[in-house]
Parts: sequence; C-alpha cells; structure tokens
Amino acid sequence: MPITPPKSHVPFMSDSDVVDRVLRHIAAGTTDRGTEVWQEPVENYQSEDRLAQELSVFKSLPTAFCPSIALPKAGDYIARTAAGTPLIVTRGHDRKVRAFKNACRHRGAELVAGKGCAGAFVCPYHGWSYGLDGALLGIPHQDGFPDIDKLANGLVEVTAIETKGIIFICQNSEQDEANLHAHLSGVPDVLAPDQMIFAENEIIVEANWKLHLESFLEGYHIKATHKETFFPFGYDNLNVIEFSGPHARVTFPFQRIETLADVAPEDRQVSDKLTYLNQLFPNVVLAELSHHRTLGILEPLGTDRTRIKTYHLTKSETVGDKDTVLKTAARDLEFVNGTGQTEDIAMVSGIQRSLNSGANTAFTFGHFEPAIVNFHRELAERL
Ligand code: FES
Ligand SMILES: [Fe+2]
Repeated sequence: MPITPPKSHVPFMSDSDVVDRVLRHIAAGTTDRGTEVWQEPVENYQSEDRLAQELSVFKSLPTAFCPSIALPKAGDYIARTAAGTPLIVTRGHDRKVRAFKNACRHRGAELVAGKGCAGAFVCPYHGWSYGLDGALLGIPHQDGFPDIDKLANGLVEVTAIETKGIIFICQNSEQDEANLHAHLSGVPDVLAPDQMIFAENEIIVEANWKLHLESFLEGYHIKATHKETFFPFGYDNLNVIEFSGPHARVTFPFQRIETLADVAPEDRQVSDKLTYLNQLFPNVVLAELSHHRTLGILEPLGTDRTRIKTYHLTKSETVGDKDTVLKTAARDLEFVNGTGQTEDIAMVSGIQRSLNSGANTAFTFGHFEPAIVNFHRELAERL
C-alpha cells in the first residue's frame, strides 16, 4: 500500500482502522510502502557545519523537554542542555512553566544542575538570587554595582509551552506563536496528568543522533536485528506508517493482534497488541508500549555522540492498584530496554564506526523506510 505523507496535520488513524490495516497486511504478506527512494549523503552525518545547522532547526522549533508531570509543584526544576544550550525549566507559583538560560547575569555561572525543588535560584559563585519567574531578587553587597538595573538583569527567558502532557521549549525568540502551535498541533495526545514517571535514565550513544533516530523509524530490521527478542512476537517487515505534518507514527504489531480479527471495531483493545512509535519532529520519540509510555529526547553532543534522556511513564488508563500498575510497567520496560535496545545501539554504533571507511558515500533508504525518508526531507527543507 503506497503512502504519501500529507503536509498538513491530519490526525493519526483510529486504533480500529490501524488494526484493519495491519490485518490486511498480514493476509496479503504486505506492508506500508513509501513511493520514493532516498539517498542521504554520509557527509551529512559527519559534518560539524551540518550539525550546527541542524541545531539551529532544533532551536527554531518547539522541542519536547520533559513530561509535564516531571514538574508537578511550584519550584520544581530540571536543568539540562537542549540543542547545546544549558537551560533551567521550572514551574512558578502561578503554575506556569518557564524556561531560562542557565547562566547567571553577573558572570555567567550555572545556577543549578540536575533536578530539584527551589524557592529561588541562588548563584553558587557570588550569591546573586533569582525568583522562579527569573527576576533578579538580590545581589550581595549591592553597593559594588551602583548602576545596575535589576529589572534588566533577570534570567534570560526562552519560550516554554506546556501542552498534551509535555513541556516544549523553543529557543528562537523570533518565532511567532501561531507557527509554534501549528507545529504542535500534529503531536498526538499520549500523555495525561494521571500518569506516573516510574523510571528515568540517560545514556550516551556513540553515534550521530540521526543514526539512532533512524533505528526507531522502520520495521524492516526487526527480523535481522531482533531475531530472538522482538521478532518471535512480531512480524518481519510489517508496519503501518502515518504522517501528521513533519511528525510520524510507525506501528509495530505483535502477532497477538490477529485475535482482534473477530472483535467488533468498537471493542478492539490494542494496548498489548501493537506498539505505536511517534516521532515528534525532529529529535523526540514518544512510544506507546503495552504497559507503559516513554518519552525519549535525543540531544546531539557532537557529530558522533548523542545523549538519550528517557522518561518512562505508566499508562493513563490504569487498571488495578498503584503497585500493580508500577510492577507491570517495570516488567514491560525490562522487555523493551533489555536486549532489544542493546541490539539497536550495537547496529547504530557500528554504522558510526564505519562512516569514515569510505565504503559508502550515501545511505539508501528504500520503500520500507518512508518515515526516515520523510524525516530527512523535512530536515533538509528547514536547513
Ligand atoms: S556569577 Fe553568579 S553571582 Fe557571580
Ligand atoms: Fe530496533
């Protein structure tokens, strides 16, 4: 079934329609196919200049920073780099989320690291202090700065948007709000306030961020790469692939989806029958797994290194008591993050090591990899 990505933000299909499409593919031995073959120059994974341009694209868009529930209370904060910029993202007493450059206005020291809860941000270097709204509150021995305009020396704010259970950051202050909201309109509603973060982790992958992202966006590799992990439960090269503006959703069905053939469309529960992999353009993966959700954020640390920050959340439609929900979610995570993830990282790191060999001047993405083709096209258009 050939698919052409729409330019507008059409919503993804209903669960029942996805099931129908998967069942038709199973019967026919087919999969969703793109219409185009794409050649991506290897140089684009190696070039510092290209990475700098890509980071400008990151900054120009609202990119996911964390789930809303990572900052439940006033004063909760998370400090981390996004597109290379050290940021503090915090919730104010007015419940509004704000993002600031993590740089003191005196001499630029980082105010906080990691995560925590604070009443104010006090610089560890000389003690200048800032409110949760970024206002400069206090300067020790202020008579040493006779002309300072405190109002003009608050923390430098960047745009934070909280929607669909996610906090997004946009670092380019020139972007108008309508554009930001248009970009976010295609983001699916996956995260809800009653979900719990039951685990979070950060790993460094020794590979270009795009190589890592590509490993999520097709099911053509399931049989070869995940022979004993995912493949025994899934299918060889069988995906439903959809687009909503620049964002994509790739469906990975489990074999038990076949039990839904005789179930009425309105009664079809897909939760443990498939995985939805949403790519929030450009650098974020939001996965809907059997018993949990993950929000994974890819942060390039160089052309050949990527930090993956992942939040693991329980599902919203929780059945049973909190302990059971947490235990099921943790088991689910073990299955996905165990060997499955290791297998992908091994492939991706191997590609990174081969880049300089000269074996390839371009990589070819074929008809089974349309989500990757769409990603590269979207990225190229924005550079
Ligand atoms: S650098 Fe922050 S108070 Fe001096
Ligand atoms: Fe994989």
